[in-house]
Amino acid sequence: SFGDSVEILGKSYPTDHFTNATPTIVSKIGRNLHNKEHHPLHLIYKRIESFFHKSYLRRGNPIFSAYSNLSPVVTHEQNFDSLLVPQNHVSRLPSDTYYINSEYMLRAHTSAHQRDLVRSGLDAFIVAGDVYRRDAIDATHYPVFHQMEGVRLFSDFELFNKVSDLSGVSLFEDGRRDNTRQETHSLETSKLVEHDLKVCLEALMRCLFGEDLNMRWVDAYFPFTHPSWELEIYHQEEWVEMLGCGVMEQKLLDSAGATNKVGWAFGLGLERLAMKLFSIPDIRLFWSTDSGFLHQFEGKDFNDSIIYKPVSKYPQCVNDISFWIPEEFSPNDFYDLVRSVGGDLVEQVSLVDEFLHPKKKRMSHCYRIVYRHMEKTLTQEEVNEVHQEIENLSAQNLGVEVR
Ligand code: PHE
Repeated sequence: SFGDSVEILGKSYPTDHFTNATPTIVSKIGRNLHNKEHHPLHLIYKRIESFFHKSYLRRGNPIFSAYSNLSPVVTHEQNFDSLLVPQNHVSRLPSDTYYINSEYMLRAHTSAHQRDLVRSGLDAFIVAGDVYRRDAIDATHYPVFHQMEGVRLFSDFELFNKVSDLSGVSLFEDGRRDNTRQETHSLETSKLVEHDLKVCLEALMRCLFGEDLNMRWVDAYFPFTHPSWELEIYHQEEWVEMLGCGVMEQKLLDSAGATNKVGWAFGLGLERLAMKLFSIPDIRLFWSTDSGFLHQFEGKDFNDSIIYKPVSKYPQCVNDISFWIPEEFSPNDFYDLVRSVGGDLVEQVSLVDEFLHPKKKRMSHCYRIVYRHMEKTLTQEEVNEVHQEIENLSAQNLGVEVR
């Protein structure tokens, strides 16, 4: 772990009782995969940016400004409070979030920038960036991934410009919150913002996945939008959730000084999109520095259609670890430890057995760790060494008793 302070992007942050970010995680900051030419995440980002630039013009100029260089270090206030996330919301738990100290954290979503960008006077913007979440370990989860945020605001003139009889329509009214709208929004506001949002995102998905894409809207909940939805697409015989979105909470806009505007916001995961679009089978591949992966995207333009051809998979090694857990134990602590020791050799960790000793009243967990290198064959000795170190450090740092 760190000493008294941790250095991130040239700034020093004192550590304290809140600190739970690990050196392994912090070492990913600054890789900026989404800004690396020809990286698949960059190609997707550019594809989305170009969609917004060509679809939304005002007198010949794009209306959306694009940000891809905002620091992932934000305050708890920016990541949570500014977005009206309740004090007791699970996402604030240290088991879910990487804290730098009691003031700063690694952003858990690009929504962390909504309030500040609106406050700076923008009314249409997209943001791309790396986000950080403590989570399980498997082919689709990695503690660092990339998101893209979009926000669009409307004045009453902009929102109602297609309504022929403007008399009697206004953005705001004093009403009651229900499933379809916020208490301060008129029915027209709620319906027109919803319509504009859905038309935009359906067109974006068609632009990415092709014209005859099947999609469906699912009601959702986010503290900073209401109403809220998720968009699912039908891809390779299954429904896949692609993004979250909704009508921005007026309280958020008011706090950003946009009291006379209403708006929508959405957020989507770039890895999820890239994995579907390019047939990339494992999320660790995005971090690969091996030419075998990156080579397949070299010289590609964001409009090219690309199918990744997996290099043959190297064999996996499976080792289990069983231990008695102490009273307060969070699996995510174990997953971070496994990441710190095993790095990208670890393909998957799963809890395969859990049992309570009837007399001792102690709980035992058994985790199965699947080791596989993306670019070579691992020997059993190499794996044993890593596995042994995981056992040792688990006993030392997590207070577990290895069985
Ligand atoms: N920030 C949300 C998430 O990470 C997604 C979202 C963005 C939802 C904007 C609504 C509006 O899940």
